[in-house]
Amino acid sequence: MTNPWLEISPNDYESHMASPEVRQLQALNKIFRNCLTKLKPKSVAILGCCTGNGFEHIDPSITERVVGIDINPKFLSITMDRFSFSIPNLELLEFDISNDELEIQPVDLVFGALIFEYVDIEKGRANIRKILKPGGHFVACLQMPSESCSVVTPTPYKSLEKLTQICH
Ligand SMILES: C[S@@+](CC[C@H](N)C(=O)[O-])C[C@H]1O[C@@H](n2cnc3c(N)ncnc32)[C@H](O)[C@@H]1O
Repeated sequence: MTNPWLEISPNDYESHMASPEVRQLQALNKIFRNCLTKLKPKSVAILGCCTGNGFEHIDPSITERVVGIDINPKFLSITMDRFSFSIPNLELLEFDISNDELEIQPVDLVFGALIFEYVDIEKGRANIRKILKPGGHFVACLQMPSESCSVVTPTPYKSLEKLTQICH
């Protein structure tokens, strides 16, 4: 089965996530901004960086190295177009954290928001251990199960509905 994330366009993703029914794009943006403000990392890896939500809060004079990782090359291409000028050392990796072995210089902060619902946790954890500096921080944002909401909130952006099959 093709990973459903590879069949979602950047426009569908952002429109769904920012829609009034979902509003997760706005919430994740704030969470990432708060992490940067609090931890002031010299280097950060963002797992499932998607189209660079929150990257506008990165201050390159504080955070000198930024590594964005995502399985979907279309998302990474948008991130590069949007942020390569404001973040001079932006590194973007097309990478499946459930299957591949991450080989990057360790970082001070590993941030992953709403990605662990879709990956192999053991493989993901092994990858995080490899790329986190001793004494560094790992921040995860998880969507908890809910009896009142469906896993993927219905919106006009139907391509996201297939995520229900792989979300855990
Ligand atoms: C819900 S989005 C993340 C939201 C993002 N942090 C934000 O603030 O908009 C999940 C992201 O993880 C990526 N992803 C899903 N499975 C992945 C995997 N196995 N390896 C790498 N990235 C993956 C998807 O392509 C998507 O960009």
